[in-house]
Parts: sequence; structure tokens; C-alpha cells
Amino acid sequence: MPGFDAYDPAFVRDPYPTYARLRHEGPFSDESWGLTFFSRHRDVAGILRDRRFGRDIRHVLPLDRVDRRTYPEHLPSWYRMIRGSFIDLEPPEHTRIRSAVNRSFTKSRAEVKRESITALATDLFERAATPGHFDAVAEYAAPIPVAVIADLMGIPRERQRDLLAWSHAIVRVFDLNVTPDEERAAERAVEEFSGYLRTLVAERRKAPGTDLISELVTTAGLPDDDLVATCILILNAGHEATVHAIGNGILALARHPEVFAALRADPDLLPTATDELLRWDPPLQMFERWVLEDLEWEGVRLRTGDKVGLLFGAANHDPTVFPDPERIDPGRTDNPHLAFGLGTHFCLGAPLARVEIEEALGVLVRRVDTLVPALDEPPRTPSLVFRGVDELPVRVTANPAAPAPPPGVS
Ligand code: HEM
Repeated sequence: MPGFDAYDPAFVRDPYPTYARLRHEGPFSDESWGLTFFSRHRDVAGILRDRRFGRDIRHVLPLDRVDRRTYPEHLPSWYRMIRGSFIDLEPPEHTRIRSAVNRSFTKSRAEVKRESITALATDLFERAATPGHFDAVAEYAAPIPVAVIADLMGIPRERQRDLLAWSHAIVRVFDLNVTPDEERAAERAVEEFSGYLRTLVAERRKAPGTDLISELVTTAGLPDDDLVATCILILNAGHEATVHAIGNGILALARHPEVFAALRADPDLLPTATDELLRWDPPLQMFERWVLEDLEWEGVRLRTGDKVGLLFGAANHDPTVFPDPERIDPGRTDNPHLAFGLGTHFCLGAPLARVEIEEALGVLVRRVDTLVPALDEPPRTPSLVFRGVDELPVRVTANPAAPAPPPGVS
């Protein structure tokens, strides 16, 4: 019987040998997950591109015919703002909102942020690494994405703690083991978060600034509910994956000194290395799709309202697409990895995330001589969706030839 135990400590430590077996065995259904899993690149990419699969089912089946845990109507604010945000809609509703925000998330808009992201990473590094050892997650990877998103949206630094608390409470509802108390806390968090954003939207309508909320208020032409749901989505989607991506990247470099040495010798490799590290150990490993019409895929019969699970980590190591997939090749250019998804829901924040990862790793590459993990196995929270380390203590020695920190960085 094909399958796997996502909570087996050996799988949590290193899922890639299991993924190799799953690719070999082909698609399989798992009752406990309620999913048919796909692991080959051809299948995962094909399903992501195929409009007979989607992230929403409500336009196809009435709610009483689907798995209600996805659509908790007893949490009205959560349901409206989270399941009503465009990541959980399909065209034409998805297109209406996404096309209104696309222009704020282009590559050139992300480039504008590069300098301030480098300054932020340098500042964090200078503070954290002075004694020669630090927690590369808590003191370095974690603070970067939330500060970047908050700055982008014009949310003051002192509210960042609230953003994180709201976001953590909200995402608990995605977990099948969520308790009634956590549900109530999530509902309260959405109400507080929306209330705060509505105030900002009203302020920026009156006196627009140069931030993203002002831009959306003045150019996107969206009703307030859509604006607020979009801002919550961007804040939630934008931070945790990026924290894990930076953490996974640093762990990979610490465990593969030859890759770190290659980047130190040639920092121009950072853009391809960033995509390669995202391929090699993606922070988001599994996404689901609803089946929107009866169909057959690779010999598997799927019915309207079924769900499929797409194993991104497995697809990213498929040797039919990536030669020598277990090797980190920082110069890999032909790299159609799926870490940012594909098709309708391709990550809106991919250009920004790439700049954040490039600069977070770039500061280390330029300022550090040796980078060594202080633990053989840094702790992880078991999850089939998120892959990252909770702590990453590392020992570093400084590069004596490192450039001076940019002005303004203490
Ligand atoms: C390394 C960091 C990141 C990774 C690996 C990542 C990955 C992804 C993936 C795989 C999807 C598609 C989900 C699906 O197909 O079901 C997605 C969607 C999305 N991401 Fe990201 N993301 C990252 C960072 C960001 C950032 C920084 C932002 C915001 C600034 C962001 C905003 C979004 C949004 C809004 C969507 C929904 C797009 C849509 O439905 O059209 N992400 N992301």
C-alpha cells in the first residue's frame, strides 16, 4: 500500500528519500488526509495549470456537499475575510482582484526595495553576530519579512508585534486540530486586524502616502472589504514562507560549505542560487486543489468535489526535470521549480521574496568567513505544508575583508 507518515521523525527530518519512492510508485489516495497525492513534476505542474482544478469549489457545488472544515461559516469574519481573499477564489473573481494588485508587485517594484532590505539585513547581522554565534532564525531570518511587508504597507514598526500575533491566531484555523478556543481567538484576530486596516484605509483615502495601502486605495478601485481581505492575505502569505526560505537557505549553506564557498567567490551567483535553494528545500511543500469536474488524470479517476494534494518538494527533486536533483548547484539556470507555484495562483510576492532571500544570504556571503551549524538537527515543527527550522544556532567567523556597513547601520 503506497503512502507515507508525514509525522514520522525521519520524514520530518528529511522527506526527500520518501518523495523519491512516492514518485516511483505514482499517485495514491490517502483517506486520513482525504487527498489523492501527486508527486511527479509533470503531474504537479500539470494540475496547477489545469483549470479543471481550483482553490475554490463554492461556484461548483453547494457548501453542504463539500468538506465543511474548509469553510467554517460559524466564524463569520474569518470566513468572509480569509476564504473571501483572492487566493481562495477562482476566475473571474480571482482575476478581478489579482489584476488590480499585480502592478504593485512587479520585479521592478521589488528592486526598489533592495537597498533598504540590504540595510535591514546588515543591521540585524551586525547586532546578532557580534559574539560569533547567533540564532539565524530568531535573530535574522524571522525579523526581515515582517519588517519588509509592514514597511511596504506603511504600517508602523511598533505594530509589527500585533501583525504577527493576529497572523498566528488566524492560521490556526487551517489546522485540522484547531480547538474551539483557538477558533474564537482567530475570529477575534480577524476582527481586530480588519478594524485596524479599515482605519488605515480610511486615513490613506483622505491623505494618501507612498505606501502600498495608499496605492491600492487610489488605483485598484476595489471595495473596502476586498482591500482589507487583500491586505490580510499579503501580510499572512508574505512572511512565514519567507522566514522559512531564508532559514532553509542558511541551513543548506552551513551544511554545504562548498556551495557557501562558491557564493563567496562569486556573489553574482546569488540570484540563481536563491532559486536553487528554493527548489532544493522549498518552505511550502504541499498545496491542495479541488477537483472541479469529473475527470481522469494519469489513470486515476477523480470526481467533482474530491481533493488532490500536490507535493511540491517531491516535484522539485524529480530527476526527469532536474539533472542530479539532490545536488545543490548554485549556478543552475534551467530551473522550473515549483516553490512559488504555477498558473492562476502563482505567488504574487515572488519577486519581493527573491530580493529578500538574495539579500539575506548576500549579507552572510559577504560578511562571513565560516558558517557552521551549532546543532546537528535543528528543531522543526512537524508539518506537511510548512518546512523550516524553528531555531538555527550557527557559529560564524567574520570576513576580515567585508565591506563596511552602509551609512546609518550601527
Ligand atoms: C519564499 C517565500 C514565498 C514562497 C515560497 C511563496 C510561495 C507561494 C506559493 C506556492 C503560492 C501558490 C499557492 C497555490 O498555488 O495554491 C503563493 C501564492 C501567493 N503568495 Fe507567496 N510565497 C512566498 C512569499 C510571498 C510574499 C513575500 C508575498 C507577499 C508580498 C506572497 C504573497 C502571495 C499571494 C498574495 C499569493 C496568492 C496568489 C494568488 O492566489 O493569485 N508570497 N505563494
